Amino acid sequence: MYSSKIVSLGHHVPDTVITNQYLSNLMDTNDEWITERTGIKERRWIDPKVDTVANMAAKATRMALQRANLTEKDIDFIVFATITPDYFFPGSGVLLQRELGLDGRIAALDIRNACSGFIYALSVADQFIKTGMYKTILVVGAEIQSTALDITTRGRNTAVIFGDGAGAAILQRSDKQGILSTHLHSDGRFAEELYVKDPGSSRPHAERQPEQILDTTSFKVVMNGNQVFKHATTRFMEVIQEALDQNNLKKEEISLLIPHQANLRISQYIQAKLSLRDDQVYNNIMRMGNTTAASIPIAMSEAWAEKRIKENDVLCLAAFGSGFTWASALIRW
Ligand code: COA
Repeated sequence: MYSSKIVSLGHHVPDTVITNQYLSNLMDTNDEWITERTGIKERRWIDPKVDTVANMAAKATRMALQRANLTEKDIDFIVFATITPDYFFPGSGVLLQRELGLDGRIAALDIRNACSGFIYALSVADQFIKTGMYKTILVVGAEIQSTALDITTRGRNTAVIFGDGAGAAILQRSDKQGILSTHLHSDGRFAEELYVKDPGSSRPHAERQPEQILDTTSFKVVMNGNQVFKHATTRFMEVIQEALDQNNLKKEEISLLIPHQANLRISQYIQAKLSLRDDQVYNNIMRMGNTTAASIPIAMSEAWAEKRIKENDVLCLAAFGSGFTWASALIRW
């Protein structure tokens, strides 16, 4: 059996910065409420004339390739995590493949596990490398959340949280064990606690005709914030402990925890429970908002560039999100 290692990271976020002040002009909210409940000060939203999920992913990929002196031709397989694909189908994997000029040569797989999507994708890529099927895999998380938000007072509990962006990781076969383990969970009983209903295929034919869709509420993000918060705090802790136990590591041996950037209060809760110092946890939600599957790879790419991740460090990734799904990964850098 082979081992896999992350050899490079990259990210791209849209140019447009959306401040809390800007949102308070669109809906009944304010900087104080958003900062206190979520920690978010600003997020990036796309300009639909410039950005797509696939082209943001391509920009993140090119940064990762350049940082490792690799080229598009080195990629054997693409695993693309997003719940906001450019089209209802096909998925964004093939669109990224086209952007990278890799048509027909390699395969592209799409993962739709929301905020846990990047760790799910990393886990899939890790298995393909371990079995020897591929040597170099591009793992991407990219999202455009802004266009599915209800940016009126009715949607203010979600509109203030989510942002857009893309992050990419290059995984390669390695002599040294980089990815130590990944841990994946889901519980569909809570599917409707955080979801977008449409375009749902189970709708009767008549209801799916564009001229019938006068009320577009069902195309917007719906979230039961209290339920999500409650489950997230429990599941984050469980899945981090599961990863530590499997590798016989103690919580104080985590060099850097990169939690999915759901809400700063959730990150701070986990940090306190694990008794980690500030320098052992990486957060960028203050600047990026919650970018769903993109949040972990964007944060990793930033942390790596800031030299917060060093050789031999134990990196812990953990996520929770819609589904519900939750996941963790332990990595020896
Ligand atoms: N600005 C101002 N007031 C807002 C608001 C906003 N953006 N959003 C909601 N409110 C109001 C509510 O309408 C409610 O008003 P009421 O008391 O008059 O009814 C009040 O604030 C409290 O709402 P509540 O939903 O109980 O607040 P909360 O403390 O639970 O915070 C969240 C809301 C969404 C910030 C919080 O539940 C949360 O962070 N949940 C987890 C979300 C998450 O992590 N999602 C991503 C998962 S991957």
